[in-house]
Amino acid sequence: MGHITFVEHNGTTHQVQLETDKTLMQLAKDNYVPGIDADCGGACACGTCHVFIDNSWISKTGSAAAHELQMLNLTPEKTANSRLACQIDLSAQLDGLVVHLPESQM
Ligand code: FES
Repeated sequence: MGHITFVEHNGTTHQVQLETDKTLMQLAKDNYVPGIDADCGGACACGTCHVFIDNSWISKTGSAAAHELQMLNLTPEKTANSRLACQIDLSAQLDGLVVHLPESQM
């Protein structure tokens, strides 16, 4: 099985085993990755699962949908690489994915 790497703003990395029946947010929560609070439980309504996707992975994760962009516009530190982890369904093609966490979620 593959893995996903979460990188905190301070550079601390957390490599967790990929589970394809979860969202990226669920995987982070289940593996106690700090900085993913997910206050709304994955309803795309809180913005506390904000992550940055490395450029090389955007084609595989896809871009944010309109409702996700509306939520992202309310989060600090939004960039062109921003996504909400609860809106990314994991699949085998995301093996090796690296995501960074914003400073505001430390
Ligand atoms: S968990 Fe609330 S927006 Fe993702």
